[in-house]
Amino acid sequence: MARRVQQVAGALIIVCSSTAISARAQQSSGEQQFQRRCASCHSMEPDQNRAGPHLSGIVGRRAGAVEDANYSDALRESGIVWDEEALNSFLSNPRDMVPGSRMTFRVADAEDRQAIVEYLLRK
Ligand code: HEC
Repeated sequence: MARRVQQVAGALIIVCSSTAISARAQQSSGEQQFQRRCASCHSMEPDQNRAGPHLSGIVGRRAGAVEDANYSDALRESGIVWDEEALNSFLSNPRDMVPGSRMTFRVADAEDRQAIVEYLLRK
């Protein structure tokens, strides 16, 4: 009986630690992907706009709301408020969601997209 308890406990520890490892892997991959794919156009520092607006505090922000950023009228007038679903949809194809958007960069892979969106949700 004691042995069985030990085995079950051992299995649980393995399950728990592998979940933690995959969460960590996803965390770093979301951040790494952001650095690799988005950071040339988007800073995470407020008041630092590049070709695109800064994305500090993007979740809950109205689309097109950063002062002095170079937005299309289409995005500014879209009425979008950025949440997980909206970000996911925009990144899969910005011009599908917002025809006339200045951003054309797409993240086709759903897992990559999710990792990037989760990174933005934590920021
Ligand atoms: C080549 C430059 C470029 C790249 C690369 C790029 N973007 Fe953009 N992004 C833009 C531009 C320009 C806009 C403004 C679009 C508009 O006004 O229609 C924008 C807008 C956005 C917005 C809306 C911001 C707001 O204030 O409403 C989000 C969110 C966003 N980008 C996320 C990302 C993410 C995440 C990545 C990486 C996967 C990325 N972008 C890659 C140029 C880029």
